Amino acid sequence: MSGSRASLPAKPNVINPKRKSAMNELIDLRTDTVTRPTPEMLAAIQCASQGDDSRDGDATVQRLEALAAQRTGKEAGLYMPSGTMTNLVAVLAHTSRAGEVLLERGAHMLNTELGGLAAVAGVFYKAIPGTRGAMDEALLAESIRPMTRNNFGTALVCMETTHNGAGGAVLPLVHMQRVHVLAREHGVPVHTDGARLFNAAAALGVSVAEIARHTDSVCFCVSKGLSAPVGSVLCGPKPFIERARAFRRMVGGNMRQAGLIAAAGIVAIETMAQRLPEDHRRARALAEGLHAIDARLADPAMVETNIVRVSVAHSGRSAAQWSDAFREKGIAVSPADPRSLRFVTHRHIGDAEVSQAIKACAEVCADSR
Ligand SMILES: Cc1ncc(COP(=O)(O)O)c(C=O)c1O
Repeated sequence: MSGSRASLPAKPNVINPKRKSAMNELIDLRTDTVTRPTPEMLAAIQCASQGDDSRDGDATVQRLEALAAQRTGKEAGLYMPSGTMTNLVAVLAHTSRAGEVLLERGAHMLNTELGGLAAVAGVFYKAIPGTRGAMDEALLAESIRPMTRNNFGTALVCMETTHNGAGGAVLPLVHMQRVHVLAREHGVPVHTDGARLFNAAAALGVSVAEIARHTDSVCFCVSKGLSAPVGSVLCGPKPFIERARAFRRMVGGNMRQAGLIAAAGIVAIETMAQRLPEDHRRARALAEGLHAIDARLADPAMVETNIVRVSVAHSGRSAAQWSDAFREKGIAVSPADPRSLRFVTHRHIGDAEVSQAIKACAEVCADSR
């Protein structure tokens, strides 16, 4: 086996599990990426192999990639440092730096990944209007176009589930299936940004493979609600993943003793997915509490997973001002845009923290009257 000597478990790596995050005193509802590794992850890190993944391969990274491929029902997986990089590398590997990428207009890949699509992957993009993260299928069908002497044509269609900008909305499987079939009819591949794919599966009550069968490639993050410290895995057919491996190197994503972080990713997939419904239940409870204070703030019916979008448009104050007021009460939240806030539940948010966030909101509302 390649790199077997280098991949042998070494002496335990030294990690202090008691170390706390700087945001520890605040109730941190900004994002689920603030989740810290579990004791089981820290134990796995301490015993992980320390091969050089980009030279001879590392046994733990290979195990994580195989596990990710198996869970998503794809042939192969490729571990990378971030969700942004897995999306970028997927676009590079699918498009060969030419053509147009179609994606929903609120997509993370379009709005929050700093134009990597165009700036690095060299593709044009077209934003398709959508509802709750799902592209309008008629507009999508009209927008797919073949290569002609005057344009490169459509190179890739992308979906996102759960959809961050749409408040954690889950794409219906029938929608994903129809998009996949449509793209296939035109010979166009489909990539799905599944940063929170396990949340989508939990909300739908299906396996992640049931979702991933409606896309050619998919990525998911172990670093968000699944609580691992670092990483995202891109999954797809073997030849695609081999191309992606070269592009990962091109964008500087090759890692060395990555088994240390991959070990936590394995624990994340094996043990953390089953607790995600708790985060979803608490997000719904949070939305219900805010709705009871002022129905304009949040609509509990819109909460499908662990993200709550809170509208402050009616208040005459900006989302940044609301965020500052919450912080004074010990609650950290993110302005999602000038008129709304984003609250995200995760492993460090229990029922007590939800109650405190609701109480803080009532105080912020009272203070502003
Ligand atoms: C839907 C979606 N895709 C991709 C990403 C990017 O992940 P990363 O922060 O690991 O680059 C995020 C991050 O929040 C996300 O919400």
